[in-house]
Amino acid sequence: MKLMKRMTTLLCAAQVCLATLAGAAPLSITLPPETAVLKPNELPGYQLAQQKCSTCHSADYINFQPPGMSLAQWTAEAGKMQKVYGAPISDQDVTMIGAYLAATYGSAHTSDADVQAASNPTASQPPPAPVAKPDAMALLQNNACLSCHAIDHKVVGPAYHDVAAKYAKDPQAQTKVASSIQHGGSGKWGDIPMPPFAQLSPDDLQTLTTFILKQ
Ligand code: HEC
Ligand code: HEC
Repeated sequence: MKLMKRMTTLLCAAQVCLATLAGAAPLSITLPPETAVLKPNELPGYQLAQQKCSTCHSADYINFQPPGMSLAQWTAEAGKMQKVYGAPISDQDVTMIGAYLAATYGSAHTSDADVQAASNPTASQPPPAPVAKPDAMALLQNNACLSCHAIDHKVVGPAYHDVAAKYAKDPQAQTKVASSIQHGGSGKWGDIPMPPFAQLSPDDLQTLTTFILKQ
């Protein structure tokens, strides 16, 4: 099969060559069909381009672009399809397809750092979960609060349910309880002191206090 294709290409090339030599006017070249598909590449942008770049025109539009286009140029080309011609692709598709095209048809290489980064948009960014506010239960666990407290019964310290009840009518509950957690204290619930948690960030303190006062 490979050989057949190669022979076809050779034959065609020979014909073109002969035709040119003979000075035969307007060249009408029928290209072998394999140029109408996108060249494969291991980059994920290859799959995306196959799905999204052949709905309006054939891959020849891509095959016939001038060689040596940079990553920025190919990304701009994909971006033009999105913005000017209304191709239904996301910004991330543009970036990934641009990287595939630049590495396959342009001056970039698959192993280039910027091509790799553009092809793995999620790997280059930290996952969103840890950036989001940690949830109160995780904070209670990570700070060992639960070794002395439970939601609904007294352990060493008071039940959070009772803390919430005690402050239910206090308009300054949030400030007071946040301060109790941060600075620790004793005597409000008994003789055993609550250790200070000065290292908690204001955000975490906020989250913990709000959670406890809702119990
Ligand atoms: C919504 C339809 C549509 C989609 C989808 C689309 N294109 Fe195009 N594309 C066009 C139009 C329209 C032209 C201009 C046609 C013309 O000039 O004859 C074009 C032209 C091109 C050209 C020729 C150079 C130029 O700028 O005119 C290239 C290269 C190209 N497209 C690449 C792509 C790539 C890569 C994708 C996938 C990201 C894509 N196209 C998806 C509509 C589309
Ligand atoms: C070593 C045991 C211990 C640990 C760990 C602990 N506490 Fe306490 N906590 C106590 C004790 C004892 C009291 C009661 C202090 C008092 O009587 O004033 C208390 C009181 C509290 C109160 C009530 C404060 C008030 O103003 O009435 C809150 C709220 C509270 N703790 C939250 C937390 C949080 C949140 C953590 C984790 C960040 C935590 N505690 C970790 C022992 C602990």
